[in-house]
Amino acid sequence: MIHDLWYKNAVIYCLHVGTFMDTNGDGIGDFQGLMRRLDYLAGLGITCLWLMPFQRSPNRDDGYDVSDHYTVDPRYGSLGDFVAFTHAAEQRGLRVIIDLVVNHTSDQHPWFQDARRSASSPFRSWYVWSRRKPPRADEGVVFPGVQKTTWTWDERARAYYFHRFYDFQPDLDTANPEVQEEIRKIVGFWLELGVSGFRVDAVPFVIATKGAGVKPVEQYGMLRDLREFLQWRSRDAILLAEANVLPRTDLEYFGDDGDRMHMMFNFQVNQHLFYALAASDTRPLVKALEATRDRPGTAQWGVFLRNHDELDLGRLKPEQRERVFREFAPDPDMQLYERGIRRRLAPMLSGDRRRLELAYSLLFTLPGTPVIRYGDELGMGDDLRLPERNCARTPMQWSTLPNAGFSRAARTALPVIAEGPFQFQRVNAADQRRDPESLLNWTERIIRMRKECPEIAWGDFTVLPTQPEVLALRYDWRNNAMLVLHNLSGKPASVRLRARDVGDDRLVSLFTADHSSARKGHHEIELDPYAYRWYRVGGLDYILRRRSW
Ligand code: GLC
Ligand code: CA
Repeated sequence: MIHDLWYKNAVIYCLHVGTFMDTNGDGIGDFQGLMRRLDYLAGLGITCLWLMPFQRSPNRDDGYDVSDHYTVDPRYGSLGDFVAFTHAAEQRGLRVIIDLVVNHTSDQHPWFQDARRSASSPFRSWYVWSRRKPPRADEGVVFPGVQKTTWTWDERARAYYFHRFYDFQPDLDTANPEVQEEIRKIVGFWLELGVSGFRVDAVPFVIATKGAGVKPVEQYGMLRDLREFLQWRSRDAILLAEANVLPRTDLEYFGDDGDRMHMMFNFQVNQHLFYALAASDTRPLVKALEATRDRPGTAQWGVFLRNHDELDLGRLKPEQRERVFREFAPDPDMQLYERGIRRRLAPMLSGDRRRLELAYSLLFTLPGTPVIRYGDELGMGDDLRLPERNCARTPMQWSTLPNAGFSRAARTALPVIAEGPFQFQRVNAADQRRDPESLLNWTERIIRMRKECPEIAWGDFTVLPTQPEVLALRYDWRNNAMLVLHNLSGKPASVRLRARDVGDDRLVSLFTADHSSARKGHHEIELDPYAYRWYRVGGLDYILRRRSW
């Protein structure tokens, strides 16, 4: 049964073990700590955890510089702790997906160390070399302003090596069959230890042709091969691709028959959503939704607001990007890599509860599977004194205890936020649990409701015509329908919708008692500034009549 595609109606929560919960007092979060917090996560209602890299690493790019793909970094625990954790998660009905970082390794990885040593090293051909500095070596850097080049001279190897990201992350030659074999081994290894899939890092670069003077061309066949291997080993494991590509190209990543990636993050919708929030104008967002509508039946979008990286606005028009900067990151120090914003969501929205709820309600009702970032359920803030993206990677704020209850160390690896409106004394899980009106409890309620609305996960959407500051989406699935309304402006909005477009004379509001009955063929709905409304199409009796899915 098609219902079995668990990722379609999932709620994903991403976190880094190192900043979640520290149990041994060394200032670094660990698997033991994460295990103790599984009940908190299960209680929140999420169904899947996405762990950022926790494998052995010199940790110069928050673990995305792996130096051993087959082990847990001792900072976070042991492989034994990892398996105890996946087991404990499974017992609570939580799935676990992990990052698969195979575009590159750390320069400290034994493969690279061996490869540098001599041209006859068996690992030499695992990386990408050039005797002379290739033309245009300084173009195509991923971190402009921080990264200078994509080819760096290695004295030991007496050659330049290619690195799409930082110079300490040499690219693997992913076209090499030995490297491909190793990638499959890594996938197979973690599947055996209980994971339900992978967030595949930097996919366009993994599958691109690489080399001096080589134009990067995506080799989509590699995605099918990976998918095939994954599914042979585990029938319900998934691949969630990080690929910030254009809508037409997305379909190549999903594959015509849905035989490549199960899921992709919808970067197109993400960027236009922030424009919509900044400008109270949903028109470009609607275009992005339409442009990304097509996908195979089994494929799914990952919808997100903020993630562990900068909010990349690179695909907006320059004037749209300026608008978002002006609204959400006016200070140049809030911006990053000449294209994005490094702040967390709550400070961008000035901690305004109405706007936070609006943003979250959109996250939970746009087409796809919502992916939440740890701490966003509390409205956590950032620390702009930390370099680059680290500002939004501070420890989870559990309570008013020292170090936000995250650790009993004198000093934590990344500092907790202890000043300003988002300090842990004001924003923490313990206080919010006691307050029925808190953002935490609100998030728990909206997650519960979202899980009861499979139309959003499975259905088709229609954008209903209304004023540009309001987004009106109707979802249809198996003779059930929902209508969701969002007023993105700071002014009240009167929404007038034809009952024929809505699909019924009656609408049942799911969070409040503001039901609507059409008059003279129209629904007339008043929305407060930044208000959102979820309706089931049909009367109350209809809900009672409704058969289970
Ligand atoms: C991805 C990750 C980012 C990391 C980069 C290099 O873009 O999201 O955090 O720095 O890959 O691995
Ligand atoms: Ca620890």
